[in-house]
Amino acid sequence: MTKAKTYSETVIYDTNKRFNKLVKKPDELELIGKGRSAYVFKLREQGREMALKVFFPEFKETAQREAEIYKKLSDSPYYPDIYETGHSYILMEYIKGHTFYECLNKGIRIEDEMIQEVDRALQDARLKGLNPSDIHLRNLILTPSGSVKVIDVARFSQTKACKQWEDLKSAYQILYKKSGFPQKIPKLWMETIAFLYKKNWLQKQWTARKNKFHS
Ligand SMILES: Nc1ncnc2c1ncn2[C@@H]1O[C@H](COP(=O)(O)OP(=O)(O)OP(=O)(O)O)[C@@H](O)[C@H]1O
Ligand SMILES: [Mg+2]
Repeated sequence: MTKAKTYSETVIYDTNKRFNKLVKKPDELELIGKGRSAYVFKLREQGREMALKVFFPEFKETAQREAEIYKKLSDSPYYPDIYETGHSYILMEYIKGHTFYECLNKGIRIEDEMIQEVDRALQDARLKGLNPSDIHLRNLILTPSGSVKVIDVARFSQTKACKQWEDLKSAYQILYKKSGFPQKIPKLWMETIAFLYKKNWLQKQWTARKNKFHS
């Protein structure tokens, strides 16, 4: 049995709560992130830093699907390399840096070139026949060298159109680049905006404003 498999099996989740909660993990794993389908840990082995994504029981099948998509993208520089995959985990390259969410919160400037890098990454995926979806601020990482990596590709195989990245780019051009836009955005604001976006409320307000302007 590989170390990653052993580690993934010693991660225990409490699945009785509404949101899965981490109950136990091996000391060698450092918690670095949480999403809707998994917790992600940093793991060091022979000086190499790796990320171990351990899926919640109800998302186990996602592990295989996401790993297959990462493999398809293995010749693009914009996605992490995959080292090992198992029935409920993926062991991949650890991407050092800050997610775009953290950049907004900490006041780290997001430049036009970084937006273009995301566009290039998504174009690489389209050229592989994929449909880049679920592109949100926590799935984009700005590395210390200023390049961008895209993580969390499980939904790239869906057929439904996703305009999240186009909406984020519009918000970047219309709001973020406007003088007077706050340098640091509190997490509560970002969570509220994300919630209103998910409920389609922001999109409705925006359409109403545009219609009023044109009438
Ligand atoms: N390879 C990696 N290197 C560094 N950090 C990572 C890596 N993979 C994931 N993370 C961190 O863990 C968080 C959760 O990971 P991920 O987005 O893959 O989980 P998810 O459950 O699929 O998320 P979502 O809620 O977007 O569906 C990320 O937002 C990021 O902060
Ligand atoms: Mg994610």
